[in-house]
Amino acid sequence: MSKELKVTSDKVDNYQLLISIIKAEIETEKDYIANLSNISAYFMALVKDISWVGFYILKGGELVLGPFQGKAACTRIKLGNGVCGKAAKDETLIRVDNVHEFPSHIACDSDSNSEIVIPIFKNSILVGVLDIDSTSLERFKELEEEYFAKAALEIEGCGW
Ligand code: SME
Repeated sequence: MSKELKVTSDKVDNYQLLISIIKAEIETEKDYIANLSNISAYFMALVKDISWVGFYILKGGELVLGPFQGKAACTRIKLGNGVCGKAAKDETLIRVDNVHEFPSHIACDSDSNSEIVIPIFKNSILVGVLDIDSTSLERFKELEEEYFAKAALEIEGCGW
């Protein structure tokens, strides 16, 4: 598969391309580490104004850092801690306009200002979360929520 991406100035076009490329990638590769690695890179290439994107994988009852793009991050997060831990514990998408107002936010990067975390399930069982950060306040809106949730549904089939 060609790894050339046609990034445009239209967010919806880019998000649709992101989802179709995730589908194509996981059709041909069944190793989840390989898939999550490239998926992180596709997010970074196609989603504007983000500073960190990656996966925390549920292992032994806590979240462990998986493939990502961005600065080095905390390696383990307990369920209930931070935005990721809360999204995992409650099994719900969380969008935070200003992370400094989120009580247990874990500041891996002090430049981060907003965040969205989407739980990922396989056969209805939580397997991890997709975490995306931005240095802009209120970066993530309903549009991102809609498309990133769709992406998370595709990621369910990445070979977990
Ligand atoms: N800020 C996250 C921790 C992970 S980093 O952003 C990569 C949180 O509060 O869960």
